[in-house]
Amino acid sequence: MNNFIFYNPVKMLFGVGMTSKLSELIPSNARVLILYGGGSAKINGSLEQAKSALGKRKYVEFSGIEPNPEYETCLKAVDKLKKHKLNFILAIGGGSVIDAAKFISAAAKYKGKSPWNIVAKQAPIKEAIPIATIVTLPATCSEMNMWAVISRRKLNTKLGFYSEAIAPKFSVLDPSFTLTLPAKQTRNGVIDAIIHVLEQYLTRPADAPFQDRYSEGLIMTLIENGLKVMRDEKNIKYRANIMLCAAMAHNGVPGMGVPQDWSSHVIGHQLTALYGIDHGESLSIVMPKLLSYKFDKKQEKLCQLGNRVFGIGGKSKRETAKKTIIKLKEFFKKMGAPVELKDCKLPDSAPRDAALLFDKIIGSAGEDNDIHMEDVEKILKI
Ligand code: NZQ
Ligand code: ZN
Repeated sequence: MNNFIFYNPVKMLFGVGMTSKLSELIPSNARVLILYGGGSAKINGSLEQAKSALGKRKYVEFSGIEPNPEYETCLKAVDKLKKHKLNFILAIGGGSVIDAAKFISAAAKYKGKSPWNIVAKQAPIKEAIPIATIVTLPATCSEMNMWAVISRRKLNTKLGFYSEAIAPKFSVLDPSFTLTLPAKQTRNGVIDAIIHVLEQYLTRPADAPFQDRYSEGLIMTLIENGLKVMRDEKNIKYRANIMLCAAMAHNGVPGMGVPQDWSSHVIGHQLTALYGIDHGESLSIVMPKLLSYKFDKKQEKLCQLGNRVFGIGGKSKRETAKKTIIKLKEFFKKMGAPVELKDCKLPDSAPRDAALLFDKIIGSAGEDNDIHMEDVEKILKI
C-alpha cells in the first residue's frame, strides 16, 4: 500500500426526519439559495421539509438544474445568488444538483476571467460559498466528496473538477425521499455506486486487506439490496442500505493508498457528452468491455472479486476471472441495465467519436495511464 492522505470533512445526517436538523446547522443569519432539479424535490417531500426547517431565514429558490448539469444553467443560478446577496447554498436532489451547487459555490467567488476555467483548466478554487445537501438519489456520492462534474453541451464537454473548498458542510441522507425514484434511476444509482468501488478495486493486488474487504462488503450489500429493491420498490430498509453504501463508495476510503482506474467513468462521460445517455447507463455498458480488454492486468483482482463476492470457484484463476466478468454483466442485466451500445441505440460511429472526444478532453486513463484514444475505440467495439 502506498502512503496517502485521507481527508473527508463532510458531516452526515442519516435517517428519516433528519432534515429538521437544518435548523441547528445552518447559521440563523444565512441567506439561502435553495437549488433543485426538475421538480422531484416537490414530490418526495424534501423541499417542503427543508423550507420548514429554514424557519425565518431568507431563502430564494432556483429550479431547473438538469441531469448532467449544464454550465449555462449554473451561471444563471450564480446571477440569482449575487442579485439576492445569498451566502449559503442548499442543494436538494441527486448528483447533478449537488455538483451544480459545488460549481455555483466556486463560480460565485471566482475572480478570474471566466468561471469555465474552474472546469476546463482546473483553476484553483480559493474561496467558495458554503453548501449543504439533501440527497434524493443515492448514486454518485457527491454528498460526501469534493468532486463535481459539469457539462457544456455546446462544446460537447463533460468534465470533473476537485477542490476541498466545495466539500458540503453537511449532507442529509433520508431514505424516505428516495421512495419516489423511478426504477431506472434506482437501478442507475446502485450500478454507479458499485462501479465507484470497482474503479478503486479492480486494478492489481496492493497489500491493502482493509480496503479490499471494505470494498467487497459494499459491493455485496449493494448487489443484495439492489436486486431486492427492484422487486420491492417501496421497501425503505433496502433503500436505506443502498443510500448508506452509495455514500461510502466514493468518499475516499476504498481508494486509500491503492492504484485506481477510472477509465469506465471517463469513457462513459464521453458517451454522455455525445449522446446524452444516463451516467449509470454509460458505466454498465463500458465496464464489462474494459475488463475484458484489460483482462491480463486485472486477472488477480477479478479472481479475488469472483471468489469473495460471487462465490465462484473456477478450475484456474483465469477461469474464475472470466466468469467474474460474466457474473457482473449478468447482474447489470438483471437490474435492467444496458450492456451494449445498441441497448441505448447508439450509432455505429460511437466508438470512433467517443475515442476522438476522449483524446481531446482526457488524453489518457487507467491505473498505468495505459488507455489512449485507440484503446477506447477498441474497448467500445468489443
Ligand atoms: O431533476 P429532478 O426532478 O430532481 O429529477 C431527477 C433527474 O431527472 C430524478 N430524481 C432525483 N431524485 C429523485 C428523482 N426522481 C424521483 N424521485 C427522487 N427522489 O433523477 C434524475 C437523475 O438525477 P441526477 O441527479 O442527474 O442523477 P445522478 O445522481 O445519477 O447524478 C448524475 C450526475 O452526477 C455526476 C454524473 O456524471 C452526472 O453528471 N457524477 C458526479 C460524481 C461526483 N460528484 O462525485 C461522481 C459520479 O461518478 C458522477 O460522474
Ligand atoms: Zn459515477
